[in-house]
Amino acid sequence: MYFKKNKLFIEKVEGSKIVKKFGTPTYCYSLRKLKNNIRNFQKSFSSINPLLCFSVKSNSNLQILKEVKKMGMGADVVSKGEMMQALKAGISPKKIVFSGVGKKTDELKFAIEKKILLINAETESEIFEIERLAKLKKTVVHIGIRLNPNIDAKTLRKISTGKREDKFGLTEKPFLDILNNFKFSRFVKVKCLSVHIGSQITDYKPYSKMINVLDKIIKKSQHVFDYIDLGGGMGVQYQKKTKSFNYQKYSAIIKKFLKRHDVKIIFEPGRSIIANCAVLFAQIIYIKNTEKKRFIILDAAMNDLMRPALYGSYHNIIPLIKRSKKNKTIHDFVGPVCETTDKFLSVKDFQQLNEKDYVAICDVGAYGMSLSSNYNLRPKASEIMIENKSSKVILKRQKLVNII
Ligand code: LLP
Repeated sequence: MYFKKNKLFIEKVEGSKIVKKFGTPTYCYSLRKLKNNIRNFQKSFSSINPLLCFSVKSNSNLQILKEVKKMGMGADVVSKGEMMQALKAGISPKKIVFSGVGKKTDELKFAIEKKILLINAETESEIFEIERLAKLKKTVVHIGIRLNPNIDAKTLRKISTGKREDKFGLTEKPFLDILNNFKFSRFVKVKCLSVHIGSQITDYKPYSKMINVLDKIIKKSQHVFDYIDLGGGMGVQYQKKTKSFNYQKYSAIIKKFLKRHDVKIIFEPGRSIIANCAVLFAQIIYIKNTEKKRFIILDAAMNDLMRPALYGSYHNIIPLIKRSKKNKTIHDFVGPVCETTDKFLSVKDFQQLNEKDYVAICDVGAYGMSLSSNYNLRPKASEIMIENKSSKVILKRQKLVNII
């Protein structure tokens, strides 16, 4: 994404042309960026040869998953729906891992039928249920058990998952007990230890602590794991001031870990692969000037992009056409939804904006469309993929007739 003669371009396509052709609000992805991100991720960990399972919850668009598959990635899924979508994209069941604290019988059955690589279980009752289903099917199911390592990922509290008080995984004692209980099961084989401490982690140190905990637990368990699933969570730079994640250091730590353990590493990255591949295009419907603020009322809202309302997350906003004239009032970029939290950004000093202008909300590829809803009975946005000079619809705008 860049400006040429003050016009915003995504690859070789002008932003203004996209919004005129496809309307707004519209999610717009760059395929080149997606491929580059995957390549960079693969390169960063090439010395440890991991299995990369794209976290489908971050973005479940079928075309995106097809591209992810073409680049050799598998999938990390958390529901039957995501599993079906990953399979539909052509991802091999042998590259699919199924996570989640509350998998229903129907979902477990489906995973067993499809013979996916691993079901990462999080409670003893879940493993009993898997065992019951496996016995019925007269098959052996490979599972992982998710450990709660009690580590502070130093990220937003609402997206931290690895502390004792979080609902995820099993703490050391129950983890070891359960592992022991299923040692001789004929139908369930514990092949994997899985862990995921949170999302948007920008410092490698919590991961380093996590690896230390794994060392300790593996030693205590005296169990031979084939896989260690380290989850995802690597952060991206939503703001320039955010430090970028040190892949080299993390990779070096894992390389050392592999000297002590003969296992295959699995990663489940979502955000680091797809976040900065997309912008959300929106049009300014009205501008309301008040004594203190200038409200820029967009046609995109919190139902299209929940992250700012839900976590107070920062997403930069840029115009599609740059102007030198500035306006020094505080600008609140808001949506039309009837909630005060339906606000994307508050900034001072924005360029002069007019009604009917277009803007792009940045870095929305992860947990953007996938977290969207029909709140206020607003139809979901369309999704567009740019590849060099071409643009195509990868998800049609939802029609009101389909939700009413
Ligand atoms: N694996 C597991 C088990 C997970 O729970 C998650 C994310 C991932 C992998 C992928 O994490 P990533 O690489 O994308 O950080 N909606 C929030 C993020 C929730 C993340 C939930 N779990 C947000 O918009 O920031």
